[in-house]
Amino acid sequence: MSKENLLNLEEVVSFSSYAHTMVKSEDGSYTAFSEQFQEHYHSTRDGALHESLYKHVIPAFDHHKDKEELTILDICFGLGFNTLATLYYLRENKIKKRLRIFSPEFDAELIASLHDFTYPDTFHSLIPIIQTLSREHVYEDEFVYIELYIGDARAYLQGCNELFDIVYQDAFSPSVNPLLWTREYFKEIASLLKEDAILTTYSIALKTRLALYENGFYIYINQGDGHRDATFATLQPVGAYKAVNMPHKIACNQDVESLSDALCAHL
Ligand SMILES: C[S@@+](CC[C@H](N)C(=O)[O-])C[C@H]1O[C@@H](n2cnc3c(N)ncnc32)[C@H](O)[C@@H]1O
Repeated sequence: MSKENLLNLEEVVSFSSYAHTMVKSEDGSYTAFSEQFQEHYHSTRDGALHESLYKHVIPAFDHHKDKEELTILDICFGLGFNTLATLYYLRENKIKKRLRIFSPEFDAELIASLHDFTYPDTFHSLIPIIQTLSREHVYEDEFVYIELYIGDARAYLQGCNELFDIVYQDAFSPSVNPLLWTREYFKEIASLLKEDAILTTYSIALKTRLALYENGFYIYINQGDGHRDATFATLQPVGAYKAVNMPHKIACNQDVESLSDALCAHL
């Protein structure tokens, strides 16, 4: 879509120049469409806020309800919904936990433009936080420390010294953003996790689940009213959830392979 065409659309605002278009999603919250990746930042059908809460935040915090301090890896920051929805969920439910959130994002222009983005009303009290992150890439108060890394997520992981309780795996889809879904990528992620960590993702692709499974993850279906199925994965089995029978899936789909860094080099 040309810049001229974009400027004719009603939904376009000054947000991040012509690289992104702001689009209203099904739950009334706005998401964005990326010209570079030709994808929306969230499922427009599930809704941006709804997707963040139900595919990422709620399963992660249900899993860790007893822990008082959590370290989170938010891959990648984008519009910041997963980080903001986390803070919103804790405030709304009066849950007191100390959080440290780390989030790589290579689109510096996007981050700088977030003060122009129309966030849901429910994020109203969090607007000063997003404004600080947009300007300074770091925010801290009594309960939360948030740090953005402006650069490539794979480079960030290689230099990372943290051990995470939660990973929000929310890159663009494997077909357009493959290097953040390979078996080597998930190996790096697995090496940065605590034993009881959880990884949440909207992807239900067998290739994604296989790349996780090959790195020792147990794979579960995140099913619920009002959103399409998603996945979460853990390094230890968790009883209460519906597991994906990976040996059976592999036996039924013998041609399927996880993505690899080598394959991505040829795409
Ligand atoms: C689907 S969006 C993330 C949505 C975000 N979690 C949110 O809630 O708004 C994917 C993001 O990944 C970023 N991205 C893609 N590949 C990246 C990479 N290799 N390193 C850092 N950021 C990357 C894109 O710029 C985009 O902002």
